[in-house]
Amino acid sequence: MVKKKILITGGSGYIGGRLCLHFANEGYSVTSLCHSKIPSNQDWVSKMEKVVIGDVRDELFLIELAKDNYDIVIHLVSLDHHQSNLSPTFVSSVNITPVWSILEIFSKQGLSKFIYFSTAQIYGTLQDEHVLENQTLKPQNPYGLTHQIGEVLCDYYNRKSSVDCSIIRLSNSYGAPLFEENNCWWLVINDLCQMAYKKKEIVLQSDGSPLRDFIHGWDVCSGVQTVVETSNKQHFVYNLSSGKTLSILDIAEKVKKIYLDRYNVELVITKAKSNHNITEKRVYKIDNSLICQIGFEPKWSLEMGINDLFDFLEKTMFKK
Ligand SMILES: NC(=O)c1ccc[n+]([C@@H]2O[C@H](COP(=O)([O-])OP(=O)(O)OC[C@H]3O[C@@H](n4cnc5c(N)ncnc54)[C@H](O)[C@@H]3O)[C@@H](O)[C@H]2O)c1
Repeated sequence: MVKKKILITGGSGYIGGRLCLHFANEGYSVTSLCHSKIPSNQDWVSKMEKVVIGDVRDELFLIELAKDNYDIVIHLVSLDHHQSNLSPTFVSSVNITPVWSILEIFSKQGLSKFIYFSTAQIYGTLQDEHVLENQTLKPQNPYGLTHQIGEVLCDYYNRKSSVDCSIIRLSNSYGAPLFEENNCWWLVINDLCQMAYKKKEIVLQSDGSPLRDFIHGWDVCSGVQTVVETSNKQHFVYNLSSGKTLSILDIAEKVKKIYLDRYNVELVITKAKSNHNITEKRVYKIDNSLICQIGFEPKWSLEMGINDLFDFLEKTMFKK
């Protein structure tokens, strides 16, 4: 059987590195597009069909790349929510224009599927609602705004070209990084586990009341595979979430309990002061039933994910 050819942009990033490995292990021919250098993990590199260095802002580079006739492109390049506050010209050049260029250039080379990684931040401030894909989008920051514009470009090409564009609105991913250079220790669960492991304390930057839906990186990969293997131009936007919303305090309590079970030490959780009452929290849910209907099933419980992070911390540089 001929292997399907996938190009993954942002291929050495936090999600990209794992996604490349997942699709290579699933029998796809994966080309990983990395921005500045090839990851040093030889085992990972050996599983890729190709690892290419390049800049998605460079149209000539994209034209050359498209000559490889990919079946599927998964686009993961974006500045994060801090970097996306920089100048609109720069932020659009990274977060928006390449989406348009890739769709324009690759659609002419027979691309059949384009997967665009968007974010649940596109919905804006969430209260106690059930968040469905058809909810009005009200992004509250430039990061969410640029992803909304990226989605509009996908909608246009979905209607005007033969490319099947699918949008994945990811909640929050977590899990041990594949590469040392991945900037992922600021993500709440990763941060709490690292703090517990290295400093034997859990200090929250809030009163613990903010809510999050966290989905493990390997569940993100299986969700993306479900979308890649589904052809449905009608429903092309999917929330990718665990479907479980927890407060930061709930998560800290879980980290504390698992730490106690593993290392027999009871950590103290320190919260920042706040004026509002934590018991009055209104819980939203990022509904994942649409992606579940096409076959996605989250497999990683929070307990598994936290234990896996501690396993990683034990194995790597962060010795106790
Ligand atoms: N990590 C999360 O929890 C999360 C949540 C919601 C949405 N997302 C979205 O998922 C996507 C991937 O996120 P991530 O966490 O892996 O981010 P990341 O920053 O780890 O990966 C982005 C990659 O893009 C590369 N890149 C940046 N500029 C480039 C350029 N000009 N040319 C080529 N490559 C360039 C970076 O080197 C990096 O490897 C992003 O669109 C992000 O907004 C992530």
